[in-house]
Amino acid sequence: MAILVTGGAGYIGSHTVLALLERGEDVVVLDNLVNASEESLHRVAQLTGKTAAFYPGDIRDSECLARVFGEHQITSVIHFAGLKAVGESVQKPLEYYQNNVAGTLVLLEAMRQAGVHQFIFSSSATVYGEHSPVPYQESMPIGGTTSPYGTSKWMVEQVLQDFAKADPLFSIIALRYFNPVGAHESGLMGEDPGGVPNNLLPYIAQVAIGQREQLSVFGGDYPTKDGTGVRDYIHVMDVAQGHLAAMDHLKQIAGFKAYNLGSGIGYSVLEMVQAFEKASGVTIAYQILPRRAGDLPAFWADAELAKQELGWQVQRGLDVMMRDTWNWQRKNPRGYRS
Ligand code: NAD
Ligand code: UD1
Repeated sequence: MAILVTGGAGYIGSHTVLALLERGEDVVVLDNLVNASEESLHRVAQLTGKTAAFYPGDIRDSECLARVFGEHQITSVIHFAGLKAVGESVQKPLEYYQNNVAGTLVLLEAMRQAGVHQFIFSSSATVYGEHSPVPYQESMPIGGTTSPYGTSKWMVEQVLQDFAKADPLFSIIALRYFNPVGAHESGLMGEDPGGVPNNLLPYIAQVAIGQREQLSVFGGDYPTKDGTGVRDYIHVMDVAQGHLAAMDHLKQIAGFKAYNLGSGIGYSVLEMVQAFEKASGVTIAYQILPRRAGDLPAFWADAELAKQELGWQVQRGLDVMMRDTWNWQRKNPRGYRS
């Protein structure tokens, strides 16, 4: 009996694989390493004393999937694999729809053929789109997405709803992550963006160790507490635990359900800078620039549904997110290439 984790060598996937192994689950990872290194799985093994079976393959490869399902008794699938850079998705929409949408269809077909019916999907707060009022609640309509990346997540959620209706054997949960940050407390695992980071906290961390000169704060004139963008940041180990809670819940439900994974608290960019400075003792140079295209002023989760139905809520606050980010960045200045 094993759990298949697609994209399990990536940032959130590897932390979830660690949490699954620590709980005593058997884990099989499928990852084409387009945005990851196998070193993350070596670190998982180092920390847990256990190894996940690893297949360096693509979710769009149905023969590879048939082999994985044939060689292991898979009971459920956690599906992280996909492309996630919002800006790049505008330049390369076909790649995003092929990986994120078509890839998921190939995976679902392989699951159906193998008789595996439990599925957890990595969705995103971005599916609420630009017109939803905050805090975002699961009952709100989704869509109105502003990038091919966001649209790919929305499309997959539509597919999953239709699919779960048509095949009542399937139990499916979409987890809508808000802004995952942080790293494992050991400092051995964390986020390893290739090139210039798109996201806020990896950028701040690279300024702190001197790899980047200063942070560009995108927008100082939003209608927020200090004029900078507000988001709901969530520790990656809390995200990982959310998947374990969702796995347990899958066994009790039929059909499709979506849950927010967020803290319910919004912090501004400048609050994030200050919190990082406090945790690291390093001053972060920054300049305020015009707004980044496609950014929303402020959003955060209504985190009640996951609390009530999954029995899950965040355990780690801003100080821990910053401490662990800094610990990882200091110990691994070049990520897994160190
Ligand atoms: P990541 O890039 O670190 O992990 C994704 C993994 O999938 C990588 O290891 C990559 O090599 C692999 N992959 C990509 N395409 C593949 C394919 N066709 N076949 C097999 N493997 C493939 O990203 P992450 O931050 O860990 O995100 C995991 C999931 O969560 C993604 O689906 C992402 O869209 C979603 N998500 C992430 C965030 C975030 O802020 N990190 C927020 C919301 C949703
Ligand atoms: C982005 C994606 C979202 C995705 C999420 C997690 C966009 C529009 N949205 O969310 O779909 O799910 O990443 O991968 O890209 N900021 C700066 N300077 C920086 C980087 C960011 O000021 O160098 C600000 C942003 O303007 C924003 C906040 O920091 O206000 C967080 O940005 P980021 O970490 O990129 O996440 P999101 O934009 O919320």
